[in-house]
Amino acid sequence: MRQSSLVVIANRLPLDDNAAPDGACEWRRSPGGLASALHAILEQAPATWVGWAGGVGPAPALPDIGTLRLQPVSLTEDDLRGYYEGFANSTLWPLYHDAVQQPTFDRGWWETYRTVNRRFAEAAAAVAEPGAAVWVQDYHLQLVPAMLRELRPDLLIGFFMHVPFPPPELYMQLPRRVELLRGMLGADLVGFQREQAAHNVAQLAKKLLGAHATDDAITVGGRTVRTGAFPVSIDVAEMRALATRPDVVSQAGQLRHSLGAPKRVLLSVDRLDYTKGIEHRLTAYSELLRDGFVKVRDTVMVQVAVPSRERVESYRDLRDRIEGEVGRINGEYGRVGEPAIHYLNQPFARSDLAALYLTADVMVVTPLRDGMNLVAKEFVAAREDGAGALVLSEFAGAAAELEQAFLVNPHDVDGLKATLLRAMEADGEDLAARMSSMRRHLTEHDIMAWARAYLSALDHSGRLAERLTAL
Ligand code: ADP
Ligand code: G6P
Repeated sequence: MRQSSLVVIANRLPLDDNAAPDGACEWRRSPGGLASALHAILEQAPATWVGWAGGVGPAPALPDIGTLRLQPVSLTEDDLRGYYEGFANSTLWPLYHDAVQQPTFDRGWWETYRTVNRRFAEAAAAVAEPGAAVWVQDYHLQLVPAMLRELRPDLLIGFFMHVPFPPPELYMQLPRRVELLRGMLGADLVGFQREQAAHNVAQLAKKLLGAHATDDAITVGGRTVRTGAFPVSIDVAEMRALATRPDVVSQAGQLRHSLGAPKRVLLSVDRLDYTKGIEHRLTAYSELLRDGFVKVRDTVMVQVAVPSRERVESYRDLRDRIEGEVGRINGEYGRVGEPAIHYLNQPFARSDLAALYLTADVMVVTPLRDGMNLVAKEFVAAREDGAGALVLSEFAGAAAELEQAFLVNPHDVDGLKATLLRAMEADGEDLAARMSSMRRHLTEHDIMAWARAYLSALDHSGRLAERLTAL
């Protein structure tokens, strides 16, 4: 088995399977996200990425992506139900997002979650060279750091939580709260999107483990785990390059024309998830239509909602509710050839997303809770023209950085309506000033800066510096 000095473990591999023209399955590096985030650094290590390739049954043989090796972990149908759909996405995901949807505590799922976490830990242990750095990602794999430490005490172990980490009152509901906390604290460095999360973990470590804990470090079992905030970002240069490509700019013009050349385009782009606040947003928009503040003739809303986790009942129910509501709003307020909402339930290429961002006068990003929300950052990165307004939920991690957005509490539908109107009516100078300071922030805080900040903090003693030359 080939070994690496840097190993990333995430539930998903940075891959999409696409049908090749002859119908065969063809693997491609997935666009955006963590894959491109880490690409520049992973290229230099060389590194291995351990993850699930999607689907069930034996893991497929996968080609390297450049110098990045892929180590697939297989899941059975039962694993998929108990680990991915069950414990990860029906217990932890809703609980960690402020329980905006009731979490399900099913005792059967825990064993599967633990078994699958062990499988990931073993796969990583097998490909990590002596003294390597292993970087574990997200809530799916919260037990992996401690398991890995047990298997390979020589490793430098990092854990990064992409989603929020909840306040103690909520976390305390978890039947397996102690094991999960101990699992994560198996790492040398635990990173979060926001400082509040590190504070929450410190409180819990004191309460549940009797640890000595501050917001930067937790000492438990004679070992000190460092914690901190490392807000994740996007590949700003990639989004800028896309959004200034002549074909993308002309596609944006074409899109506006196809939308009926309205005075204003409102855009939302989400995974179809109950944390994204899509229903609250639709309520606000439909009331603006009802009360005559917005007219279908001159304002158009585009809602992109890409299907997600569709085997989980709460996601299917949400889709039914949203589609019912979009149908109702279009039935009530649309005109022939002029729907009030253009609803697109499909994945788009990065260049199509860039064209959509360019078309938007108001980007509406109103999750009820979100670890970061990369869409908000992508929109800002795309707007080289300095135009466009960003309406952003206070409950998205991005709000801590994009302070010049029109910040809003999405639970407050009246406040949301007022903020939408303010953003629609803002003058160009105000918008340009807001956009320019948000863009400045993003330029300095792109995805490379994030990865570099995290990995240098992980390797603070410099023991891997030679091997991680990209740092
Ligand atoms: P989450 O991680 O919860 O899905 P984010 O906003 O942080 O939310 O990230 C979503 C990512 O998915 C962004 O990079 C965005 O560009 C991408 N995305 C969203 N909708 C689509 C779509 N319809 N097609 C392709 N990519 C999409
Ligand atoms: C969030 C999670 C990621 C996850 C993504 C898509 O961003 O933090 O870990 O990969 O959603 O969800 P999925 O269930 O399709 O992987």
